[in-house]
Amino acid sequence: MGFSPRPATEDDLDQIVAIDKTANSPPWSRPAFQSELEKKQTHFWVVTEDEDDDQILAYAVVAAPAEQAHLQTFAVHPSQRRRGLGSYLMRQLIAFLMRQKVDSLVLEVRRGNAAAIQLYQSLGFVVIHTMKSFYPDGEDAFSMIYLMERNKLSGDPDVDFDADTDGKKNIH
Ligand SMILES: CC(C)(COP(=O)(O)OP(=O)(O)OC[C@H]1O[C@@H](n2cnc3c(N)ncnc32)[C@H](O)[C@@H]1OP(=O)(O)O)[C@@H](O)C(=O)NCCC(=O)NCCS
Repeated sequence: MGFSPRPATEDDLDQIVAIDKTANSPPWSRPAFQSELEKKQTHFWVVTEDEDDDQILAYAVVAAPAEQAHLQTFAVHPSQRRRGLGSYLMRQLIAFLMRQKVDSLVLEVRRGNAAAIQLYQSLGFVVIHTMKSFYPDGEDAFSMIYLMERNKLSGDPDVDFDADTDGKKNIH
């Protein structure tokens, strides 16, 4: 069984907001996700089981205003974890960003989020520093970075949304 990544649309937002409520703390509001759909330098992706399927299994939002991109938020539906989806989506994003000439991807992750830290490390991210009391509840964040040159991760060469965009769905 495969996974199918595509740019997020407004119709996906209810599902994304529902997943985010269970996955991230603090969760994002609907308007916060909505505004990401409109940003030209933001890549907002979802994954479904196949391209005709409406059920959102995972999503990620990456801002890439320049050579360094920033993972803003990312989650896999609670019922779909440990199927390789998180890893798949990150690999696809990294391969896409490489083709966009982005040279690094940075993120913040809760110090106690062992699952996410393990996933990022398995892909080649490294911790660059600790941000004390970064989150509203006082938990520290690890700042992590993925260097494209050093890791040379390859994704699915068929994933290139720039090739079949309709303006609204474009991933810039
Ligand atoms: C973190 C998260 C995205 C992982 O998604 P996933 O689809 O379950 O991850 P994968 O199946 O691709 O796992 C890839 C690797 O990550 C690590 N990993 C994932 N979940 C793990 C867990 N619960 N405990 C330990 N390691 C874990 C493992 O190394 C795993 O490889 P393996 O299955 O061969 O052992 C998911 O747990 C999630 O959505 N969590 C809540 C939101 C979140 O934390 N987002 C990140 C914010 S920075």
